[in-house]
Amino acid sequence: MDTQVGIVGAGPAGLLLSRLLHLQGIDSIVLEQRDRGYVEQRVRAGVLEHGSVATLREAGVADRLDRQGMEHEGVELRFGRRGHRIDFAELTGRTITVYGQQEVVKDLIAARLAEGADIRFGVEDVRLHGIDTDRPTIGFAQGEISCEYVVGADGYHGVSRPSFPAGTISTYERAYPYAWLGILAQAPPSARELIYARSDRGFALHSMRSPEITRMYLQVAPDEDLGEWPDERVWAELHTRLADDSGFALTEGEILDKGITGMRSMVASPMQYGRLFLAGDAAHIVPPTGAKGMNLAIADVRTLAYALGAYYTDGRTDLLAAYTDTAQRRVWRATHFSWFMTSMLHADPGDDAFGDRLALAQLEYVASSRAQATALAENYTGLPYDHGWSYP
Ligand code: FAD
Ligand code: DHB
Repeated sequence: MDTQVGIVGAGPAGLLLSRLLHLQGIDSIVLEQRDRGYVEQRVRAGVLEHGSVATLREAGVADRLDRQGMEHEGVELRFGRRGHRIDFAELTGRTITVYGQQEVVKDLIAARLAEGADIRFGVEDVRLHGIDTDRPTIGFAQGEISCEYVVGADGYHGVSRPSFPAGTISTYERAYPYAWLGILAQAPPSARELIYARSDRGFALHSMRSPEITRMYLQVAPDEDLGEWPDERVWAELHTRLADDSGFALTEGEILDKGITGMRSMVASPMQYGRLFLAGDAAHIVPPTGAKGMNLAIADVRTLAYALGAYYTDGRTDLLAAYTDTAQRRVWRATHFSWFMTSMLHADPGDDAFGDRLALAQLEYVASSRAQATALAENYTGLPYDHGWSYP
């Protein structure tokens, strides 16, 4: 046997799992199809829940996060040209931290390589074999490893979910009739906190990565051609959609990165077949409006690392058997929250004025009711985990 746990995918899920296993004395090998530079540069999520920050601290990989992460005590919802702040700290006692996903990935890779981890980048043609036996193997163009458990942390397009035999997995899906065009700009953020804006021309989001870098998103059509969006058009649309009556001024800068992301929701169930477990985007994806994807990936591997720890330390298999149920309670809550945020904030091109008025009525309610604002704040900052525990 080459290792105890074979992990496919070096995103936040696979890397954090290998670290949490290592802290419990469990050996793993991570196989990643891309090269190291690619996974460290890929611009994606930026918001860490309160519990994700705590988990990264427990995992001992939060030194830079604690120095460079930007802790936010609230967000603004902007509609009808007015802003309404949701005060997370006051409503829930919790905060969120803005820190790029690729920074989390860099910190995890550095920590794992420093402790001698086996992370293989650039592996091609990964295939899973014998997952219903007690000695599964992971084959790839350059070799093969045998292990006791396989974790598919290889994202939405990975090979692990399709490796479930026909009839052993169901998927629940919803495609949204829009996409996000995201930019990273060399410009200081134009506000201290995130702004989620609904305008007549669709959704816009103001976020950030550092005191010098702004991250922003625009609702666009699902089949939008990036070539139709020169920088001037992106800025003009951001100015229009973020405009308010109190003189908000958006600072422009050089656009460093521009991309389009589709919006869909998918939950696969169960998240286990034989010795194969799915974690993160391999098992479920959400539209990005609730900032839940990376946080769910972290929550999954927290649960899975604990269950694998119970197996290797005490021979217990009950927590592994309960993995799907434990993980999916959180997944479905986040799936509902992401749907709620998405439908409240986007203009649905297929909908009529009635749909628009419903979304505005919901925004008004969140902006004026403490109960509604608290519900949003507790979901956004992250609900407590099912089990409380610490790593050594
Ligand atoms: P991934 O990060 O997708 O990692 C999977 C890894 O597996 C990849 O490195 C991939 O190369 C590798 N892989 C795939 N197939 C194979 C194979 N066959 N063999 C070997 N390796 C393979 N989430 C949030 O929580 N907050 C946010 O603010 C947020 N904003 C987002 C904004 C955008 C524009 C996007 C696109 C996503 C956003 N998300 C957000 C979602 C978040 O980025 C994902 O949920 C997160 O990346 C999931 O992590 P993961 O490790 O499960 O999967
Ligand atoms: C970011 C992404 C999100 O999906 C979100 O809801 C908030 C912020 C970001 O990339 O900063």
